[in-house]
Amino acid sequence: MNLLLDEIAVAASRLAEAGVESPRTDAELIAVHVHGVARGALHTVPDAAFDPRYWDDVARRASREPLQHITGQAYFRYLELEVGPGVFVPRQETEVMTGWAIEALGEMDIAEPVVADLGTGSGAIALAIAQEVPGARVHAVEADPLARQWAERNIARCAEAAPHTSGRVTLHGDDFASALPDLSGAVDLVISNPPYIPVGAWVPPEVGEYDPATALWGGADGLDAIRVIEHVARRLLRSDGLVAVEHGAPQGAAVYWVFAEENGWRETRNHIDLAGRDRFVTARSGRWPVAG
Ligand SMILES: C[S@@+](CC[C@H](N)C(=O)[O-])C[C@H]1O[C@@H](n2cnc3c(N)ncnc32)[C@H](O)[C@@H]1O
Repeated sequence: MNLLLDEIAVAASRLAEAGVESPRTDAELIAVHVHGVARGALHTVPDAAFDPRYWDDVARRASREPLQHITGQAYFRYLELEVGPGVFVPRQETEVMTGWAIEALGEMDIAEPVVADLGTGSGAIALAIAQEVPGARVHAVEADPLARQWAERNIARCAEAAPHTSGRVTLHGDDFASALPDLSGAVDLVISNPPYIPVGAWVPPEVGEYDPATALWGGADGLDAIRVIEHVARRLLRSDGLVAVEHGAPQGAAVYWVFAEENGWRETRNHIDLAGRDRFVTARSGRWPVAG
């Protein structure tokens, strides 16, 4: 053992007492952040190099500040994104929906598919699609000016790290309800992780106190924004285009019916996340135009 490993063990039990879900992992990742070493090299940090600022960050995490706000970074598929106050921290479950979209776009076999990411937050979904789908043109819509600043930063950062994505993500500062009027009927795939938590539902402090309210709450049943996305997707998609929308685990059946046949949708499907919970719905645009 060395001093750092001893301190990590103490920090892990402190985080566990504070109710943190993955205390050992978080204690280690904070040590990685503070000491600037790889996780697999933590045991090589000499005792004299132990940085006492470690305990400041552990205290922040024990007060339930999200790990990603402390490190300033979030990982999403093959991307490292900057995150912090004012932007939603991208989640693992959204990676699954994004992977579905990436595969579907590949199968479309279009040289420059047009994609709309409605409520882009940090830019996670839009940037992953630009990175993994050659030629994709992604329109990222975000109404919140603070979140948009993070998206701008991440778009610039990714253009540097992966120059092939440069210029392929366009950020639009609009409400998604009326966004992208020039692209009506011309979009190949609409994707969204909208706010979908029912007002009044319990959320952990990391979410309720740090994710922006505009990213979370979806009205009395949590479906307000999802209903808007359904309307917008109807307007934006070309015939046979695809939509993918994330939702909360108990909302699978309700969201399925938002994308109902009588609204012109075909091939509506429920999909699960890595934990096996209902997590997103996909559908194909069909008999346009349909009233509504
Ligand atoms: C749950 S977050 C998802 C962010 C990102 N797509 C992700 O998956 O990490 C929802 C995002 O939608 C944005 N948003 C909510 N309502 C909106 C609206 N009416 N128009 C545009 N953006 C909206 C929020 O500001 C927030 O950034």
